[in-house]
Amino acid sequence: MKDYNAVMQESEFNKASLGLPLARYEYFSSVGSTNDVVADWAREGATGLCLAYADEQIHGRGRAGRTWFTPPGSALAFSLLLDTAPKLGPILPGLVSGLGALAVCQALEDLYELIPQIKWPNDVLLDGKKVCGVLVEMQWSGERLTAPILGIGINIAPSSLPPKKELNFPATCVQDAVGREPDAALMLRAALESLINWKDKLGDPEFVQAWDQRLAYKGHHVRLEGGGDPTVKGEILGLAADGSLQMRLASGDVKGFYMGEIQIRPLVDTSSK
Ligand code: BTN
Repeated sequence: MKDYNAVMQESEFNKASLGLPLARYEYFSSVGSTNDVVADWAREGATGLCLAYADEQIHGRGRAGRTWFTPPGSALAFSLLLDTAPKLGPILPGLVSGLGALAVCQALEDLYELIPQIKWPNDVLLDGKKVCGVLVEMQWSGERLTAPILGIGINIAPSSLPPKKELNFPATCVQDAVGREPDAALMLRAALESLINWKDKLGDPEFVQAWDQRLAYKGHHVRLEGGGDPTVKGEILGLAADGSLQMRLASGDVKGFYMGEIQIRPLVDTSSK
């Protein structure tokens, strides 16, 4: 059935996915969460790179237990079941987060000549405001990582932004950044192409360098949340080869942080969608 209000029609989604090395791809007008869709596929034994896309998510999830607002006709919400690099073990989630953010940056750069930045590990910012969030979830079978799941939400239209009081970091959308309605199918295609290009290079210096080049607040002093001590402040130095964030703390010590340990807060204000 045609849904005229969708940000992308099913036929456009099918066209955007055409010719890519996807073992399975599916369009949903409305789902709970696309991460849950691919998690179910994984439990059912899916293999290869799989993609679930939804125009609306009823129970969209963000990081740290937050909800992710995905009303119909507003955003790109998609999840990939990756067939990549389980050998990277415990550092994989951080690298996969970087993969999602880097792919979205490259799509915004290539299509709209924007200058996006990555708020480590995984938020994509435009002019300091969040335009995209990435949620990585892992399925394990005992000690064995069976399914890395990469969920990406990109704010396309202004209606993708939750009410201001629900924002804990300033947010924006692609439409406001480019000044016209963006082509959501082209955005999805470009992000998928970048992702497919990088997904088997997660441990490579070239990948970490591409992520590092887009790192927000490099050389700036920021506050760290979730590192145990709420008052920890430091200067962002950049990424180490394993994707960990290198910070110079007030003591002068240089310390590396891994995804899940901390969240960055610029010293001026803020919070996350
Ligand atoms: C965050 O910034 O907190 C992460 C947001 C991730 C949202 C995406 S939308 C597609 C996928 N499905 C979900 O339920 N969440 C992710």
